[in-house]
Amino acid sequence: MRTFTDSLLSAVDGALRTIWAPSRSHRALPAAAETAKPLTPAEKREAGALMRVNHVGEVCAQALYTAQAAATRDPALRAHFEKAAREETDHLAWTQARLQELGARPSLLNPLWYAGAFGLGLVAGRLGDPVSLGFVAETERQVEAHLESHMNRLPPGDSASRAIVDQMKLDESRHAAEAWAAGATDLPTPVKALMRGAAKVMTTVAHRI
Ligand SMILES: [Fe+2]
Ligand SMILES: [Fe+2]
Repeated sequence: MRTFTDSLLSAVDGALRTIWAPSRSHRALPAAAETAKPLTPAEKREAGALMRVNHVGEVCAQALYTAQAAATRDPALRAHFEKAAREETDHLAWTQARLQELGARPSLLNPLWYAGAFGLGLVAGRLGDPVSLGFVAETERQVEAHLESHMNRLPPGDSASRAIVDQMKLDESRHAAEAWAAGATDLPTPVKALMRGAAKVMTTVAHRI
């Protein structure tokens, strides 16, 4: 039986590892279909800013899934969340690696993003498993749409970032489908709008800081 202290310790451990330790992926970095074209300094800066936003998204994904795994009493659902979190670790490692290649740094506010997302995940978890899964399904759907928008914003020659974003998009879409299959409930429209608003704040700030 997991105690509250166990959950708290694993949360702190997860936060420290997500934010400060280099992440290791289970799957290889998605390979670009075409050879990358050299980027201009401005293109490199913009790609770095966009990949920083995506890295923050993955920091939040770690926090959300960890919190939601801690909040559920259903061992099967906990395993479901933990499996998704492992796949998100690949995303975290890939975006981290690409940030480095682009000479960009991760968001300075990562501890804050992690804490905020963890709190949100706990709230969603407390509202019961169908709502918690509904929150996953909607989050993943919004992330997928966001990544699609990045395919239009990333420099055309940045095939390395594009390959990563493309694979992430496929994975997030599957995570949403898996949440529906596990019994997600559709969230009320105002809640979805609120989530979009919060994501907008995060993506705007993380683009710069
Ligand atoms: Fe992800
Ligand atoms: Fe995902």
